[in-house]
Amino acid sequence: MNKTTGLRNRRIRIKDVLAAGTAGGEICVRGWARTVRRSREVAFIALNDGSCFASLQVVLSPELENFDEVARCGTGACLEIEGQLAASPASGQAWEIHARRVRIIGAAGPDFPLQKKHHSLEFLRTIAHLRPRTNAFGAVFRVRNALSFAIHRFFQERGFLYVHTPIITANDCEGAGEMFRVTTLDPVDPPRVEGRIDWRQDFFGDKTGLTVSGQLQGELFANAFTDIYTFGPTFRAENSNTSRHAAEFWMIEPEMAFADLADDCALAEDFLRYLVTCALEECGEDLAFFNERIEPGLIARLEALAKAEFQVMTYSEAVALLEKSGQGFEFPVAWGMDLQSEHERYLTEQVIGGPVFVTDYPAELKAFYMRGNDDGKTVAAMDLLVPRVGEIIGGSQREERLEVLEEKMRNIGIAPESLWWYLDSRRWGSCPHAGFGLGFERLLMYVTGMENIRDVIPFPRTPGNARF
Ligand code: 4AD
Ligand code: MG
Repeated sequence: MNKTTGLRNRRIRIKDVLAAGTAGGEICVRGWARTVRRSREVAFIALNDGSCFASLQVVLSPELENFDEVARCGTGACLEIEGQLAASPASGQAWEIHARRVRIIGAAGPDFPLQKKHHSLEFLRTIAHLRPRTNAFGAVFRVRNALSFAIHRFFQERGFLYVHTPIITANDCEGAGEMFRVTTLDPVDPPRVEGRIDWRQDFFGDKTGLTVSGQLQGELFANAFTDIYTFGPTFRAENSNTSRHAAEFWMIEPEMAFADLADDCALAEDFLRYLVTCALEECGEDLAFFNERIEPGLIARLEALAKAEFQVMTYSEAVALLEKSGQGFEFPVAWGMDLQSEHERYLTEQVIGGPVFVTDYPAELKAFYMRGNDDGKTVAAMDLLVPRVGEIIGGSQREERLEVLEEKMRNIGIAPESLWWYLDSRRWGSCPHAGFGLGFERLLMYVTGMENIRDVIPFPRTPGNARF
């Protein structure tokens, strides 16, 4: 593999230098100064190019032609270093580079906001354009990258087809009324009929919005390719300013034909275990940082998950456990009421102490497409709850019986004609099928220990904030 890239094709990534360096070798590296320390006889620069957590120590001697100019360089400067790799006498690093030539590619003055001192995550959110250059966010986004790739690998190894479902859509899959509007109508003076906005005159000839889920289209593809998955941006105008909700997030939605709720849970369990194992194997250095600085015990928790048998309980069992818990919950618990995040966390953290599927929720609490159980009251739904995060996955077996589905839609006020194309999948060659959605940022919160969803997505969109 050719590991050099860039101008004149000779730069080496710091990750490769640290992994395979040989003493005495002449190398060229480029990156950004994390710290600069100088005395009269020597200066040290910690150079980071984002390829790995560690920075490469650069040693500068006063014989260097531009020693003073370089040593005056501050944190944040972009530099090219040519020199010899040498075994480092300093502890905590195997290699250092003795600079023979240093080129200042881009200077940075003392007003660069990321000076060497502790910055809170809250402060770093206000400079989200610069925070990728910190240790913490370097680690977050390398893990995000590794897990994105692992998601595709997991499904491709199992023969699932990757499908790109639309981002602009005319249907609210989850029926929660949380869609962002997409329109080219004049907001000041939209065309109207009988006082109401005439969406037929809008760009798509219909009232459209940003997708809240690719599931409905995913189901159509499962009816052709058997096993499929989506992995794309998802939008919800949920005006809840919590640490676990974003207005724009990424969701992975597999859908399997010839599958029931138990198959769905089995896939979700394999999937989560695969991703956590991958993080442990491929992101060791970054996880070590989170383990030390963000969440003590993180690695042990992930290792336990990789080995854990996921527990299963029904919603009815969960409610019974909550009712007899003796906990003073903020929200009341009773059969028929939705589980709040405090309830979910109590179940996964206190009752089980690990991942748990809660299944078979009351039909009224869940979306229209879930398969009715024989009891006439519950549906074949599942939520996977994990400690610290709560709900990380939501899924279900789908209602494949046309008449049952149509009647249910009418009962809750969805005109079956409005989803005629979706119902066609139940008209011709309908089959039992099931799927789920994993919130990618919730996964990253779980794997990194970061407690706020704003800190695991490059440029978060939340109520009141779409900067950067
Ligand atoms: O439970 P949800 O709403 O399920 C669906 O959208 C189904 N259509 C999935 C399917 O069966 N194909 O969302 C799935 C997951 C949640 O468990 C959560 O992890 C994440 O998406 N999620 C969010 N993540 C961040 N911010 C938000 N506002 C989120 N809403 C849901
Ligand atoms: Mg859900």
